[in-house]
Amino acid sequence: MTSVNADVSATATAQKPIYQDESRPVEERVEDALLRLTLEEKVALCHAQSKFSTPGVARLGIPELWMSDGPHGVRAEISWNSWDYAGWTNDRITAFPALTALAATWNTDLAALYGKSVGEEARYRRKDVLLGPGVNIYRTPLNGRNFEYMGEDPFLAGEMVVPYIQELQKNGVAACVKHFALNNQEKWRGNVNVTLSDRALYEIYLPAFRRAVVDGKAWAVMGAYNKIWGGHCCHNSRLLNDILRGEWHFDGAVITDWGGAHDTREAALNGLDIEMGSFTNGLTSDSGSTYDEYYLASPYLRMLQSGEVSLSTVDAKARNILRLIFRTAMNTRKPFGSVASPEHYAAAKSIADESIVLLKNDGLLPLSPERYRRVLVVGENAVKMLNEGGGSSELKVKDMFSPLEALREVYDEVVYAPGYKSGRFAYDVEDVIPEEVQAELRREAVELAKDADAVIYIGGLNKNAFQDCESTDRYTYSLPFCQDELITELAAVNPNIVVANISGNAYAMPWLDRVPAVLQIWYLGTMIGPAIADVISGRVNPSGKLPFSFPRRLEDCGAHSFGAEAYPGVEGEAAGNAAADLEGADVNVGRDPQEVYAEDILVGYRWHDTKNVPAMFAFGHGLSYTCFAYGSARLSSDVLSDAGSITVSVPVTNTGSRAGKETVQLYLSELNAVVPRPAKELKGFVKLSLEPGETKEAVFTIGVDALKYFDAEAHAWIAQPGAFRALIGSASDDVRASADFVYK
Ligand code: BGC
Repeated sequence: MTSVNADVSATATAQKPIYQDESRPVEERVEDALLRLTLEEKVALCHAQSKFSTPGVARLGIPELWMSDGPHGVRAEISWNSWDYAGWTNDRITAFPALTALAATWNTDLAALYGKSVGEEARYRRKDVLLGPGVNIYRTPLNGRNFEYMGEDPFLAGEMVVPYIQELQKNGVAACVKHFALNNQEKWRGNVNVTLSDRALYEIYLPAFRRAVVDGKAWAVMGAYNKIWGGHCCHNSRLLNDILRGEWHFDGAVITDWGGAHDTREAALNGLDIEMGSFTNGLTSDSGSTYDEYYLASPYLRMLQSGEVSLSTVDAKARNILRLIFRTAMNTRKPFGSVASPEHYAAAKSIADESIVLLKNDGLLPLSPERYRRVLVVGENAVKMLNEGGGSSELKVKDMFSPLEALREVYDEVVYAPGYKSGRFAYDVEDVIPEEVQAELRREAVELAKDADAVIYIGGLNKNAFQDCESTDRYTYSLPFCQDELITELAAVNPNIVVANISGNAYAMPWLDRVPAVLQIWYLGTMIGPAIADVISGRVNPSGKLPFSFPRRLEDCGAHSFGAEAYPGVEGEAAGNAAADLEGADVNVGRDPQEVYAEDILVGYRWHDTKNVPAMFAFGHGLSYTCFAYGSARLSSDVLSDAGSITVSVPVTNTGSRAGKETVQLYLSELNAVVPRPAKELKGFVKLSLEPGETKEAVFTIGVDALKYFDAEAHAWIAQPGAFRALIGSASDDVRASADFVYK
């Protein structure tokens, strides 16, 4: 009996087609599957069959691919062919902190934990592709979508994105890194044509994507909506064929942003694999057009049949898509996943805890519950469901613990006053709240503040249109909804005020000198309340550092120093002129808005430091309830040669009375550069955990690559022999130790 059974199963294994045999190398399986596919089946793989899925090949048992936003949790189920939610009851999940928050932890272990946890949720929800993470660089505080990205520095974003992807993909769920590339604003995102130097492209805007692909080994990349060099990013030969595949050897699938494809021939030839969401604006509208009319559907099939484009184009796409399917949907070895588990809540809480940035503290914080018993909480964000709104990253949570709820558990007597009103969430539309309504809410809050032991202000931006929201940019750098007046008046009647603003962006703080304590909070998801309450009350010692600069004024930001041509771009006749001015640029003169990244490589702190324009709060800034003393820097050698590397180390001591974490940052500066270079650039960081009185060494290895700039003419990274300075500090504007070395 036993031997008969064994024979049967041996025969079954032997008969398994190669493409289904997971013990075979992936490339062998891809070629085997490709041989079995008809032309029609290959084309079908290349486009959507519903809002969030592509067909497999039913005849061969090759499964569909199911995708989901991304990137802060797994989005609720969307209807087959409309943007309406499907109304399922089993799609509630953990909302993890926004990626800005993750970046603010400067903790790569937490990035790994984030990827693992969100990957398990995606797997449980049977998703094959998670539409994230996003690594577009923070160029202007007006970009409505900065909260979905990891800040202004390519090194920081690159370090954080790699462990996220690696751990996510262990669940058999692909990361789809977005939005490739230069989707650095939402205004005119569908057609703004970006022009920039190759140097800025390679030094600032590409490195985090490169790390995601080369080191993270992401299985999918999403093209951006905007144009670059006159062509849409979703089928842009230079971006996708030359850079992504040619230089980085990407072997996964390129997926459009929803509605990001515009032309069959370009889509066929210029590196796109999967077309999603066409005939919509990516957010709200639908059309009667069927999936069969997609650029990469029937129109593509006809071109292939007539020989207008070569069959090798569809074979290349099918190979990339099959690889993606084998790694995800057809991977039978993946774990089962889990959702809204205690482990995921704990992960979300640790990330949230370490992300909160103490911007300013004149000694009021932590706000001891023994001393401050009667607390007034002011601000809509103390109660608002900030998991909702904001665009495609919106989440349907199982639980959301609000700040007000959490603060009530900590302080004896908590009174709440909204203080202002922001109106409904709606894409593209803003509720205008009459000034009298705001004045009345303000009056009520200020009255109550007079009798409170302390005021905890929880405001900031929100996910409404024209705030931190996809598809729109902010209008101004100021806080909305009359909050500046409100904070100023509250501070005038109660000096014990903690301002804890929630946002994914920097904003002006005209009241900064009048308040003793300021915390920067991000969209922290499910655990937002407990994280805020623990930091304010002192149960958690804050250790976040800013992943982007807070300029004093909008004009102090590089992108805003060159007028409309540099942001948001110019339309009409002006666009024609701007295009004509661009030497050698291949642009559609006059038609699309044109934008030139005139600040070039000087983005964020690179601008502030090089141009001597101090920021209000610098990149890398973040205080603690304890203090850290830095010793002198020691180099292993003051000569770095081509083949080698040197180390620089600095002892850091916790000189306060409580345990804390400090992110020690290494910046490099070239002393007599032959080409313009930023005053300094981040090249390393380490987060040390220190008990009171404890000393640890922060040790950084410096290799030649860290010295290089991108030489556009040679199309190569170059390190110029000469003198360099290693600057070690607590923030980009707070260097505590330095040491010089020579590169020979
Ligand atoms: C967004 C993407 C998102 C997609 C699907 C687009 O509007 O730009 O980031 O993944 O929609 O929801």
